[in-house]
Amino acid sequence: MNVTIIGAGYVGLLSGACLAEKGHRVSCVDISQQLVEQLNQGKPHIYEAGLAELLGRALDSGRFRATTDLDSSLDRCDLVIVAVGTPSENGVIDLSSIVQISRRIGLYLRTRDRHLSIVIKSTVVPGTTDTLVRSEIASASGKDFPSFGLGMNPEFLREGNAISDFMEPDRIVLGYEDDKTLQLLEELYAPWEADKIRVNTRTAELIKYANNILLATQVSTVNEIANLAAALGNIDVMDVVRAVHLDKRWNPILEKGRVTPGILSYLVPGCGFGGSCFPKDLQALRSQGREKGIPMHMLNAILKVNDSQPRQVVDTIAHELGDLTGKTALVLGLSFKPGTDDVRESASLKIVRSLLQKGVKVIAHDPVATHNFKTALGTPGDKLHYVDSWTENVDKADIVIVATAWPEYQELSQLHLEGKVVFDARRMFQPSAFTKGKYLSIGRRMS
Ligand code: UGA
Repeated sequence: MNVTIIGAGYVGLLSGACLAEKGHRVSCVDISQQLVEQLNQGKPHIYEAGLAELLGRALDSGRFRATTDLDSSLDRCDLVIVAVGTPSENGVIDLSSIVQISRRIGLYLRTRDRHLSIVIKSTVVPGTTDTLVRSEIASASGKDFPSFGLGMNPEFLREGNAISDFMEPDRIVLGYEDDKTLQLLEELYAPWEADKIRVNTRTAELIKYANNILLATQVSTVNEIANLAAALGNIDVMDVVRAVHLDKRWNPILEKGRVTPGILSYLVPGCGFGGSCFPKDLQALRSQGREKGIPMHMLNAILKVNDSQPRQVVDTIAHELGDLTGKTALVLGLSFKPGTDDVRESASLKIVRSLLQKGVKVIAHDPVATHNFKTALGTPGDKLHYVDSWTENVDKADIVIVATAWPEYQELSQLHLEGKVVFDARRMFQPSAFTKGKYLSIGRRMS
């Protein structure tokens, strides 16, 4: 199929390169000439494992190109996928790019006598495609639905695993408002054998939110239990969690033994979730729910717990050490999770800010996210230093905080940590691994 993808950001570029890999001819449209040139030279502007190779193959095959020329791209395509950003503006979804693109497609349709199906891939609050997108296209084109088609096809891509998530999906949601669009979506995803769910567009939109919300619920719930365990004392919440994980409804016992489903990794206490999706999506749906008269108590609680979770780290250290002024902390991990350079809503931002406020000197390390972290944090003065080698800086620190579970930090337990406080904010280690230094963590205060 000939597919136009509008927006060469994370989702647009990844989807485009993956669709090209499966044999479709993809034209990825973006307003940035510089970005388009860069992509056509095979240089992705985002960090994602395997993406540069995938893009290279897509370009070599002749099935992928980036362009700024929307009309020519639309002229050649069977289906257009919209993958523009839907950021959060004070907790409310900002749909201005969706509106702008819908109008732009409408203007294109005004000048052409053809059918076009428009499929939204951006995360949008339920009801966006069948009301806002529909009416904007209709008024700009002067034509009514169903003279154009409408679909919604949410993505379930985890940063760091996005290519395998796209290429080997657990399910594909085909949201549609008309049969022609469903038929095109079926054709688009014919090369995939995953379970396919056929629903209307607002159901597809809610599926995306429900998925992220239920994952975030696990994180905040286990964090709240962890905080209680710490406050009670003499409980290690990991013992609690390990026992809960063995409930056969979470972790079925099959003939060959336990399955250990991926969901269990969201049921491990830590310093909170972040990234470009969970916080933004929860806020957006909370705001939509309130608008509809539903108070959204759960979303409120999940977000509240998450907001204050990074504070547990600094508060616990202060509780142990008293005044932190003049101490030096080595913060290991700045991205919101391992495997990405994304620092949006990263717990490390809050942890570092709070340490600096308390007069702590901070040495910060991340394998790939330092540049983004610097930009996100702004200029914090002379109390913060970024380093390339964390092992060489352990000696300088009074406190070592593991804030992101990058595998390389496993080495920490083998280093000389006499007299130091280690705070394991991701529960990467067994407490017994630290016999020399003082081991602190979320969900465990042994006195
Ligand atoms: C998330 C969802 O997992 C994807 O399915 C979804 O498509 C995507 O949002 C999106 O809306 O586009 P992502 O933000 O990349 O993907 O992150 P996750 O890997 O799910 O991590 C989210 C948060 O949960 C992170 O803060 C992470 O630290 C935490 N997490 C993640 C865990 O606590 N345990 C894990 O095993 C994985």
